[in-house]
Amino acid sequence: MAVDSPLAPAPVERPPFRPGLEGVPATQSAICDIDGLKGLLTYRGYTVDDLVAQSSFLETAYLLIWGELPTAAQLKEFEHEVQMHRRVSFRIRDMMKSFPSQGHPMDALQASAASLGLFYSRRALDNPEYIVSAVVRLLAKIPTMVAAFQLIRKGQDPIQPRDDLPYAANFLYMLTEREPDPLAARIFDACLILHAEHSLNASTFSARVTASTLTDPYAVVASAVGTLAGPLHGGANEDVLTMLEEIGSEDRVEAWLERAIAEKQKIMGFGHREYKVKDPRAVILQKLAEQLFDQFGHDPLYDLARKLEAVAAERLGPKGIYPNVDFYSGLVYRKLGIPEDLFTPIFAIARTAGWLAHWKEQLGANRIYRPSQIYTGAAGRDWMPLQAR
Ligand code: CMC
Repeated sequence: MAVDSPLAPAPVERPPFRPGLEGVPATQSAICDIDGLKGLLTYRGYTVDDLVAQSSFLETAYLLIWGELPTAAQLKEFEHEVQMHRRVSFRIRDMMKSFPSQGHPMDALQASAASLGLFYSRRALDNPEYIVSAVVRLLAKIPTMVAAFQLIRKGQDPIQPRDDLPYAANFLYMLTEREPDPLAARIFDACLILHAEHSLNASTFSARVTASTLTDPYAVVASAVGTLAGPLHGGANEDVLTMLEEIGSEDRVEAWLERAIAEKQKIMGFGHREYKVKDPRAVILQKLAEQLFDQFGHDPLYDLARKLEAVAAERLGPKGIYPNVDFYSGLVYRKLGIPEDLFTPIFAIARTAGWLAHWKEQLGANRIYRPSQIYTGAAGRDWMPLQAR
């Protein structure tokens, strides 16, 4: 047999199987770094705290994708390009009108994002102008499509973007048909910065795997949107509010948590593969939520959330389980008047920047992803004819 032959290759030493690829480096990347013990998150070397305080979402997207902060002229041009491409084809709007109105907006977004490939796919991946135009179109059109589906499912026509409004304010305007309060727009922009990138999370991994086949960028983003939708990933932000509403009042928190732990139920908005302390994004989002409550009125669910955080710190903290980015984001969006099932599409608007950064980085040193598996199925079975089964 071949294995006994002195010419046969030596058996390959396989690394141990790690469910969920925990701790397995699957790429090299210069985009984002997480210190899960110190609770530090940096994009291209800048802390998210600094970016939230000093930058805008589009400037942060530029930094993530091109690797350096833009000059004033570069930023102006980038913002202008994105603004020029915000509109989506009437054909895509008509397609969205045929979607069931009770369908989840993440499914509508995935289908709409994929449909962009019908209009713009040329797969000229070695052409820098193609890369720029794909980046601009995706950043520009994803928010328009999220807002369009929101109006379409209410039986209304989508409204056109407003060229005089910056990125975040324009999205809130397209969604609510009202020009937002400046503080609300600023806080929403900060939320986009905080969700823009987070290293090799599930949807970004999905984007990189798709990118590695050299398919078009619209397929890359559509595959990532589908991955983000799950409740263990971006979908958790929606579930946090449902959970807080189910708990109902502060005096029920302890009993609710005890039961959830006893039933081995996951507490939504808690835990993270990378962080063993409170997610730095949750720390910032909590402050942003408080700013909103000071300006626009308190939300009693916030008191409940804080109580849950305090009680959970005693019970789950010793296992390194603390609030993640999704725990306070829903409370911010709720105060901004955004419907719960749009929380994850908003996450997708922001994360498009990170997906595009990883798409571009993947193309720069591409090798198709093709991991191995450990086969655990049957072998050497004798064929059984249909009549004999
Ligand atoms: N509530 C209660 N126990 C938890 C939680 C939680 N939220 N998260 C982890 N654990 C426990 C888990 O039961 C397990 O315990 P044991 O070792 O006794 O069996 C241990 O911690 C390890 O959990 P795991 O599920 O193996 O950890 P993971 O690294 O595979 O999963 C996670 C990470 C984020 C999927 C998980 O913490 C989770 O399901 N959290 C709730 C959903 C959520 O909030 N997701 C948003 C994540 S952050 C934003 C994003 O990625 O989109």
